[in-house]
Amino acid sequence: MTDSRPYFIVLGNEKGGSGKSTTAMHVAIGLLRLGYRVGSIDLDARQGTFTRYMANRFEYVARHKLELPSPIHFPIERSKAATVDQQERMDYDFFMMATEEMSSLVDFVVVDTPGSDTYLGQIAHSYADTVITPMNDSFIDLDVLARIDTESRAIKGPSIYTKMVLEQRGKKKARDGKDLDWIVMRNRLSSLDAKNKREVGELLEEIGKQFGFRLAPGFGERVIFREMFLKGMTLLDMKEDPEHKMTMSAISARQEIRDLLRCIAPEQVKGYPQKVK
Ligand SMILES: Nc1ncnc2c1ncn2[C@@H]1O[C@H](COP(=O)(O)OP(=O)(O)OP(=O)(O)O)[C@@H](O)[C@H]1O
Ligand SMILES: [Mg+2]
Repeated sequence: MTDSRPYFIVLGNEKGGSGKSTTAMHVAIGLLRLGYRVGSIDLDARQGTFTRYMANRFEYVARHKLELPSPIHFPIERSKAATVDQQERMDYDFFMMATEEMSSLVDFVVVDTPGSDTYLGQIAHSYADTVITPMNDSFIDLDVLARIDTESRAIKGPSIYTKMVLEQRGKKKARDGKDLDWIVMRNRLSSLDAKNKREVGELLEEIGKQFGFRLAPGFGERVIFREMFLKGMTLLDMKEDPEHKMTMSAISARQEIRDLLRCIAPEQVKGYPQKVK
């Protein structure tokens, strides 16, 4: 691949239901709204949440005759070839084909991966410029990043997912001479349990220091995310969505999305002014 290749943002977490597809959609639409050309790849095409989200969008946009931006979208299904070798070769070829296809058309590619360890997911991580790992905000979910002693809360070692990210990060460095930026983002933050929130935050800082990720501001727990999925809309489309009611919760959620976008690739993404502290 040449240096003019698009910037790859990969959503990953081997735990299901942590918000990868929801975040992928919001990041893709957020970048489009800043005027960038965006491609999206669904590597979880069998489940197809990201692809369905996109299809819902096309349908809603057409029905309401809206002028809303959408990315160039590729779903890639895992190979069902007879041997693991053949499967891996096909998966690799499809991923490369999709990225080559998009390379002259887009500035950013947003990749959604399955909530389990797959070869396609591994390849995507090794080509990522930024990996975003959304995680549900609880002590239980920390185990996707590290093994924690339940009594002392000491960090005992990396989780399987963290090992995978570190391995792919090493492959990328060896192949391209470049590092990736790993961002962990807390999702479904509750406004109620402030003590728990602080303790999870402190432990995450520690885990991040050991295994090389930084923390991004997260998203609160909000019903609106589920409603938006059915229409294929995001919180960044609120103004144009004829069925949308502008609530305080929606406005706060939109702010959270913008805060995340500010955090991703600050060198490449220009558009949202930095917050004045
Ligand atoms: N901040 C949030 N508040 C409320 N609901 C949310 C939030 N984030 C995600 N959800 C909901 O949680 C469910 C799982 O989210 P999503 O599909 O994005 O997770 P995922 O990590 O892609 O899951 P999988 O591993 O199965 O692919 C969806 O119904 C989504 O609408
Ligand atoms: Mg998903």
